[in-house]
Amino acid sequence: MSDSDTIRSAFLSELNKITSLSDLENVKIRYLGRKGEINTFLSKLKNIQPNERKKVGLKVNELKKEIKKRLEERKVSLLLRQEKELKIDVTLPGFKYPRGGLHPVTIAIEEVAKIFEKIGFIHLSYPEVEWEYYAFESLNMPDGHPARDDFETFFIDSKPHPKLGQMLLTPHTSSGQNREMKRLKKPPIRMINIARCYRPNWDVTHVPMFYQFEGLCVDERINLTHLKGTLDYFVKEFFGAKREARVRPFHFQFTEPSFEVDVSCGACFGKGTVSGEKCRVCKSGWLELGGAGMVHPFVLKEGDIDPKKYSGFAFGWGVERVFMMKEDFKLDDLRTMYSGDVRFLEQF
Ligand code: DAH
Repeated sequence: MSDSDTIRSAFLSELNKITSLSDLENVKIRYLGRKGEINTFLSKLKNIQPNERKKVGLKVNELKKEIKKRLEERKVSLLLRQEKELKIDVTLPGFKYPRGGLHPVTIAIEEVAKIFEKIGFIHLSYPEVEWEYYAFESLNMPDGHPARDDFETFFIDSKPHPKLGQMLLTPHTSSGQNREMKRLKKPPIRMINIARCYRPNWDVTHVPMFYQFEGLCVDERINLTHLKGTLDYFVKEFFGAKREARVRPFHFQFTEPSFEVDVSCGACFGKGTVSGEKCRVCKSGWLELGGAGMVHPFVLKEGDIDPKKYSGFAFGWGVERVFMMKEDFKLDDLRTMYSGDVRFLEQF
């Protein structure tokens, strides 16, 4: 047997043992590498008889080609097998990626906006850094008026504006009323202003930054029935068809008459009792939503709107509050809402 036959049979037996790409690479180096079997053999050709040399040389070159081809084939079959093994098994149970979600307050804002947009209210967010004029004067609370005390306010330490007064963090979304009247210049106005508000309170029922949504509707012949109709509509859309709205007389400087709006309790539906027992969710069958009323003529005038020709209604409620009332839960500490604790947030 010539040397090239020995190399060939040794190669074939090694080829059979290859099970991985790295095995394959080793075999390739051993036979075709610079100092591999083939080259070593070729370097010895000079020792062979010249008449034999050509024949042997041709044979070795043939063998070199064969080795290359076989290694290439082996590589392809290895790659195919690897692909098969890696194939996705669609019957395996799926892998769940952890998923983020919207903050409950964002969910509530989107829902409130959608409900009012359906009846033609334009969704806006008026500034949270505001002038005193929009937060107070324009709303019938002149400088020094005691009603201002209800809206404990963060004032900004800056130069006051000659007409608009001090800069502040708006304590309520009602400051958007005058802005919207002046933006549109002429009724009809249907605005829903959802924005951040600030008051310096930090306890289990208060956070210094919270959200309100403020509705304002001004047109010819707007009356109390329009307000009540809008409240009923919102309560049924947001809390569910079985819930009712009611209004109680109250006082605000910027509305006349003014009301507080209640929604019937979701547990006892306004009865105050459940199977003869006192309802555990509410005290009297009703839960307090927030303020509302018919826009005071002074407020219309400040917005350059003629109160003899136009009238309007307004309401302003807390987003966190309506959200909690909808979900029928009481947070022991409202601050949890803004704690960023995922154990709380994951529930919505
Ligand atoms: N701005 C009031 C507050 O923060 C809420 C309010 C009451 C808004 C009556 C209104 C309204 O638009 O008509 O307490």
